[in-house]
Amino acid sequence: MNYHEKLDFDNIPKHVGIIMDGNGRWAKNRKKPRTFGHKEGTERVIEIVEAAYKINVKSLTLYAFSTENWKRPEEEISKLMDLLAFYIKSQLEKIKKNNIRIMVLGDYTAFPEKIVGLIDTALQETKSNDKMILNIGLNYGGQSEIVRASKKICEEVIAGNISIDDINTESFKDYLYTRGQNDLDLLIRPSGEFRVSNFLLYQLAYSEFYFSDILWPDFHENEFYKAICDFQSRNRRYGGL
Ligand code: FPP
Repeated sequence: MNYHEKLDFDNIPKHVGIIMDGNGRWAKNRKKPRTFGHKEGTERVIEIVEAAYKINVKSLTLYAFSTENWKRPEEEISKLMDLLAFYIKSQLEKIKKNNIRIMVLGDYTAFPEKIVGLIDTALQETKSNDKMILNIGLNYGGQSEIVRASKKICEEVIAGNISIDDINTESFKDYLYTRGQNDLDLLIRPSGEFRVSNFLLYQLAYSEFYFSDILWPDFHENEFYKAICDFQSRNRRYGGL
């Protein structure tokens, strides 16, 4: 079925997050090293960024590297860094032309210097773009993000810039990496896992969840549109009736 044809363009989720999972299993099924799966997964990143852009999603957040991913073998981490570098180098011109802003969620300064430089360039050169925001989770964890925001708020209170009464669930969002963006509308997790894995914990308060058995390297544009169609069939009540 062609799910693009079924989309309701008046009800496109403003913010979609994806936990890109299953690269390792995809490679194992083909008797290849795990990094082969990450390489194909990077091709899906390119495809899905374009798919989201075409239907006017305002924010797309991709979980590329979690605070827990440092536990993986050094060789795999290094390959993921290479793929990130490849992605930025090969896509930055297109991203700029399409008026997409790149933002990073997480402390990417822990990455190798060369990667930090590339990321800084991408952030700088796209900072005025406003058609879509591509958030990339790098050394990201939702709990760390909330603790970081809390510390920043404490600093503001201590400096006398805000009072404790100014802190509420809305103003708190200004201290998250996703400041200024919508809360998450739709969380997509491929590969048959039913976990949130420390992703966008604050932003997903009212998001719809979409789980799929498809492994990320097989998650093509039509699968993405299928998830959006599924989202459009949901009745979002936000705690009301
Ligand atoms: C999870 O699959 C995937 C990752 C930890 C890495 C995701 C990274 C990419 C797709 C490429 C680089 C990113 C960008 C933005 C260019 P897994 O290895 O946990 O798979 P498994 O559960 O089957 O082992």
